[in-house]
Amino acid sequence: MNRFFPTRLVDGFKNNIRKSDELKHSVLNDATVAPDRFWDVLSYTGTISVFLILIQVVTGLLLLFYYSPNPLKAFESVIAIKNEIPNGFLFVNLHTINAKLIVLVLFIHMFRIMYVSAHRGPRKNQWYTGSVLMTLMLVTGFSGYLLPWSQQSYWACVIGTEAIRTVPLAGDLIVYLLRGGKEVAGPTLSIFYMLHIIFLPAGIIVFMWYHIKKVWQTGVAAPPEMIAGINPETCVGCGVCERICPFSAIRMMSGTGSKSMPEVDGGLCNACRLCLDKCPTQSITLKSQSGPMKTEPIFPHNMLHRMSATVVTIMILFAGVFFFHGMLIEDKIPADPFITPDRIKPDWYFMGPYQVLKIMPSEFTGLLSLLAIYLVLVFLPVIDKKGPRDPEKRPLYILLVKTSIFSFIIFTIWGFLS
Ligand code: HEM
Repeated sequence: MNRFFPTRLVDGFKNNIRKSDELKHSVLNDATVAPDRFWDVLSYTGTISVFLILIQVVTGLLLLFYYSPNPLKAFESVIAIKNEIPNGFLFVNLHTINAKLIVLVLFIHMFRIMYVSAHRGPRKNQWYTGSVLMTLMLVTGFSGYLLPWSQQSYWACVIGTEAIRTVPLAGDLIVYLLRGGKEVAGPTLSIFYMLHIIFLPAGIIVFMWYHIKKVWQTGVAAPPEMIAGINPETCVGCGVCERICPFSAIRMMSGTGSKSMPEVDGGLCNACRLCLDKCPTQSITLKSQSGPMKTEPIFPHNMLHRMSATVVTIMILFAGVFFFHGMLIEDKIPADPFITPDRIKPDWYFMGPYQVLKIMPSEFTGLLSLLAIYLVLVFLPVIDKKGPRDPEKRPLYILLVKTSIFSFIIFTIWGFLS
């Protein structure tokens, strides 16, 4: 027996990873698919975000001790935290770079879900709460960007809020309320500060709780090659599965004798697990259409995999803090309302939308296009409800998803370069 790792424990751990073409449905005590390909790790991005958000809350709370939300002192207070407080630079940079990383991880989370169509059926509420979370995170990022009260942050706020003015009828009023006056000034900083440290984080915590509660209830989406499989031995032909299926993938067919038996249309089944949960005789499991696949128990194996991915992401975050903090543009020069800088750069994730605004014939049409993209994303579960889930069986949809990702990247790079 190894002194540190008892052999029995190690063997038990190895034996738990097995090849099977069946996946049971419970979230906690059963199996899920083991990460076999690099891309499987992307299904951990939700878990990773939870930990990154925790880091954000802790560093944010520490910064609250020394930051001053006063236009005369804000810039100096950030510089003082960096230079005078022990390890202050670490907390400021962790907070700033982590804010950028969280949005990147969330974009990946969202695009992966779109790719495997995990936004449908019983998971649509996760998608809706996720959309609210994304919106809250972006607004939190926007409000936090102003707090250092530097040239870049000041003018990014001027441009960002100015764009809202084009909203018909209510535009001016919204801008006035957001800024706390006509110009970006002291009241704007107070309003953004309150939004950033109280109201938006409170909303994020509430929606995160609900989002994760829903994931807990429905379980994480099975891989696209899985479908529901019915055990004819135990099935009593009650028809609950046919009635409950949101994808019309189960039909009751006349079987032997007087008993009707459900039949699953593999092309339509989304492996959403609803029928598994509702079947009174527990005669349904998820089965792989492409032969046996590696599965692993949720606890501890899958959780350890998730934790490993989280630790690697946190290491990347620290690498960013130590190696790239000199590249942060938002902290170089204090805000000066009388000098407009040559180049105004919003945070990276607004660079693409900002570029769209710049190339459109008017700000209004730009804003309208961005609103249309936003609404399509939010209401994706209404637009894309049924049909096959396997990316290989829906090339047009996958082309659209890939084009969206590609356009987002291109517009962001274009924004940086122009
Ligand atoms: C603060 C932001 C968010 C947090 C903390 C979060 C957290 C999570 C977690 C922990 C999961 C379980 C699977 C995993 O670990 O990836 C999950 C799944 C999910 N999330 Fe999020 N999420 C967030 C934002 C979003 C956004 C922006 C969307 C989409 C608009 C979204 C939609 C979903 C959906 C549909 C699932 C189910 C996916 C599946 O079953 O594979 N989430 N989320």
